[in-house]
Amino acid sequence: MDAETVLTTTRSVRRKLDLDREVPQDVLDDCLRIAQQAPAAGSMAAQFRWLLVRDAETKARIAAYNRETAEAAWAKYGHLVEERALASARHLVRNLDRVPVLAIPCMIGRPPADTFSQSAYFGSAYPAVWSFQLALRDRGLGSSICGYHLQDHETDVAALLGIPADVTQVSLLAVAYTTQRDFRPAARPAVEEITYFDSWDSARPRG
Ligand SMILES: Cc1cc2nc3c(=O)[nH]c(=O)nc-3n(C[C@H](O)[C@H](O)[C@H](O)COP(=O)(O)O)c2cc1C
Repeated sequence: MDAETVLTTTRSVRRKLDLDREVPQDVLDDCLRIAQQAPAAGSMAAQFRWLLVRDAETKARIAAYNRETAEAAWAKYGHLVEERALASARHLVRNLDRVPVLAIPCMIGRPPADTFSQSAYFGSAYPAVWSFQLALRDRGLGSSICGYHLQDHETDVAALLGIPADVTQVSLLAVAYTTQRDFRPAARPAVEEITYFDSWDSARPRG
């Protein structure tokens, strides 16, 4: 798959995850190796970790925490979300325990308070997360971030997985082979609408 295709067709896959196909560890290792080449802010590269969960009972408990928070959020704010996206998110949350691998990117340390440090902290994790998702896509796998439990069950999941108190779960990804290979670029706002020149909200220069 060429780079542009991977970059434009790596979608959040929820309904088209193959819940019955085993994901070999050597395939994941290749993707993690690729993700390790992602940029990170100086010494923060050394603070990044992955925790992969395959154990059925452990996944079921994480899925229950996720679902509890997600269902409560949807009951309150579900009407603000597009119906298709909501149905897709619901499907994943309700089947999270059946997903072959849950991958939790972590940072050693707790999130900082100021914008500069936050930028470096989370910005040292998400490039690796996205590289991982791209590498999965290139190999016929798919993923979706599904981090609802972080809202009020981060410590419960930390206790379940033995994650120390000073380690932060940055996110959680559901990982599986996909039931189809073809995905399309998503509808997004045009570059011309979201790009300003020299000052905020300025129009594109003529010519
Ligand atoms: C930081 C971040 C957090 C996200 N959290 C969730 C989540 O908790 N549940 C979920 O279903 N999708 C989550 N997503 C995926 C977005 O909903 C998804 O990227 C968006 O719907 C656009 O779809 P696409 O990725 O297929 O282009 C998250 C994405 C990002 C970047």
